[in-house]
Amino acid sequence: MAEDKMYYQGELINKKDLSYAQIKFIQALVELGIKDPLKTNLLTVFMELSRNIIRHAGHGSIRIGRIIERSLRRTGLVLDFNDEGPGIMHLDKIFSGSYKSKQGLGLGLKGAFRMADRFSLASIEDDSTHIRFIKWIK
Ligand SMILES: Nc1ncnc2c1ncn2[C@@H]1O[C@H](COP(=O)(O)OP(=O)(O)O)[C@@H](O)[C@H]1O
Ligand SMILES: [Mg+2]
Repeated sequence: MAEDKMYYQGELINKKDLSYAQIKFIQALVELGIKDPLKTNLLTVFMELSRNIIRHAGHGSIRIGRIIERSLRRTGLVLDFNDEGPGIMHLDKIFSGSYKSKQGLGLGLKGAFRMADRFSLASIEDDSTHIRFIKWIK
């Protein structure tokens, strides 16, 4: 698998960064020819995982790209969310659905996982969280 195009890469600290990234994300979806209802669902995933960075880690970075898997002749949207925050605790509870969120609905990660064709999450306590989300588009 190789990333062949990068649409946007940036830091996320505040709501202004998030608004700008949201515009870039929508532009990428349009360029990739992604239409509703998938477009709206992907925007929800993007906003949930981006807000998690700001809310739970304080700051971090995101990357929006296109990925090609030549062996399977597939092209996908790839999203990376990276931060050096506290790490995600209770992953088992979050993904089994028994997690009770203090502020949100507690469905951001679970929803993203369900929407993904490939989802990888590496989180280390008191260190970092790295999430990669891939959705095949053709
Ligand atoms: N980037 C992150 N860094 C640290 N903790 C996180 C991060 N993202 C999510 N979490 C933790 O995982 C929990 C579940 O996240 P999520 O499913 O988005 O639900 P919510 O944000 O509504 O609480 C959060 O409540 C938070 O404790
Ligand atoms: Mg959340």
